[in-house]
Amino acid sequence: SESSQFCDAGFGYGESCGVSSSSSTKLLIKGGTVVNAHEMEVADVYVEDGIIVAVRPNIKVGDDVIVLDATGKFVMPGGIDPHTHLDMEFMGSGTIDDFFSGQAAALAGGTTMHIDFVIPVNGSLLSGLEAYEKKSKKSCMDYGFHMAITKWDEVVSKEMEIMVNEKGINSFKFFMAYKGSFMINDELLLQAFKKCKSLGALAMVHAENGDAVYEGQRRMIELGITGPEGHALSRPPVLEGEATARAIKLAGFVNTPLYVVHVMSIDAMEEISRARKSGLKVIGEPVVSGLVLNDSWLWDPDFITAAKYVMSPPIRAAGHGKALQAALSMGTLQLVGTDHCTFNSTQKALGIDDFQKIPNGVNGIEERMHLVWDTMVESGQISVTDYVRVTSTECARIFNIYPRKGAIRAGSDADIIILNPNSSFEISAKSHHSRSDTNVYEGWRGKGKVEVTISGGRVVWLNDELKVFPGSGKYVEMRPFSYLFNGIGKADAKYLSSLKAPVKRFRATT
Ligand code: URP
Ligand code: ZN
Ligand code: ZN
Repeated sequence: SESSQFCDAGFGYGESCGVSSSSSTKLLIKGGTVVNAHEMEVADVYVEDGIIVAVRPNIKVGDDVIVLDATGKFVMPGGIDPHTHLDMEFMGSGTIDDFFSGQAAALAGGTTMHIDFVIPVNGSLLSGLEAYEKKSKKSCMDYGFHMAITKWDEVVSKEMEIMVNEKGINSFKFFMAYKGSFMINDELLLQAFKKCKSLGALAMVHAENGDAVYEGQRRMIELGITGPEGHALSRPPVLEGEATARAIKLAGFVNTPLYVVHVMSIDAMEEISRARKSGLKVIGEPVVSGLVLNDSWLWDPDFITAAKYVMSPPIRAAGHGKALQAALSMGTLQLVGTDHCTFNSTQKALGIDDFQKIPNGVNGIEERMHLVWDTMVESGQISVTDYVRVTSTECARIFNIYPRKGAIRAGSDADIIILNPNSSFEISAKSHHSRSDTNVYEGWRGKGKVEVTISGGRVVWLNDELKVFPGSGKYVEMRPFSYLFNGIGKADAKYLSSLKAPVKRFRATT
């Protein structure tokens, strides 16, 4: 059974330290450095019934409490991954990780919540949500949903209202690429941005010019470039930059906040930077693959090795990742996702003769917390508090679930990690928890290891062992009008008053 993959395989610590599938466990995390997005202090954290009850030094407890010693380690909010695709039908395949295996992998890597993209069924949001409600029943950690919009009519417009007002969804994603499947046009974008604004929902874009990508693909095929490198060559950074600029300008025209997912290039990042400097509310999400990998793998002579790096927008040449890291450290980009969307080698092989048929997507849900630490904190580019901000707190704020999530403070959910900065990690498909038979970070060794993950008050990752239960994860409803909407009304009023009264003109009478 699915649960036996992790639960019944001889993990003795559960019984011996009183861990059970219920969240009634009492826990004390002792002596660690508690890190929030704006401060850190040495303190104890006391947890009861899945909620953090107290954060202060020298908390005394009775014998019925499990005590975890965190001396010399960081106690931080569990990671929140804003961008995943579990159990998704895409490009003629289904992603190999479902809501159980993907979440188990996440927990092993210190991520305790993710937000997945519901894909409508024949354009219907309600049918799409119903399908994802079924898929997510096996969840072993908390999760939320964004909703993709793939067509536009009155029904979709009404369904958006239902999503926001009744279903706990406060963000909608628009694909400006994937011509012939998910891609939408500017007219839809405008109408839907208006609708998002009226609902207080965040508009999100996959920003690539899908028509130009299609043209680029024709060009590569005519040139006889059919391998994975053709994927990168057919959709260069300029097409990402163009779509990012267009989405930003349309969102600015409507005066609604915009979230650009998987920012992969300097071109897109610079558009976001310009927009933010001009006062527009634009959020940029780099993903871990874009931050730490480069496109050289796509030229690997072994097809499967190259194909595993195919995702969209493509992983770029080395300078882009470095620039994205700098932008993250400067606050031009705000939070890190993964776009976890895994296909195994046989699925990737669908594109052996034609790169256009390689299912797009890479892993990352298990690796993100380690790689951001190793790449950004260990190198001194960001502080430990910034680490918490970009991996957890900012996501919680943007999607309006802060401080329930993204904080170590009394009243917050007990989604907590203990990271040992002096310990090391190594990534391999042989030891990861995803069902994928490959890993794009294969062989990566780094410093800073998540030694303990606590999800909803339960220790689920300890001593390199997982103890997770299908059905224990909860759906997290997200309310509209996050902080990004503050001031939108005032800006509208200012704009309207700037228009002045309509000019009165006299018609000549004959
Ligand atoms: O290649 C990718 N990114 N696959 C997932 C779908 C998407 O565009 O986010
Ligand atoms: Zn995308
Ligand atoms: Zn995605």
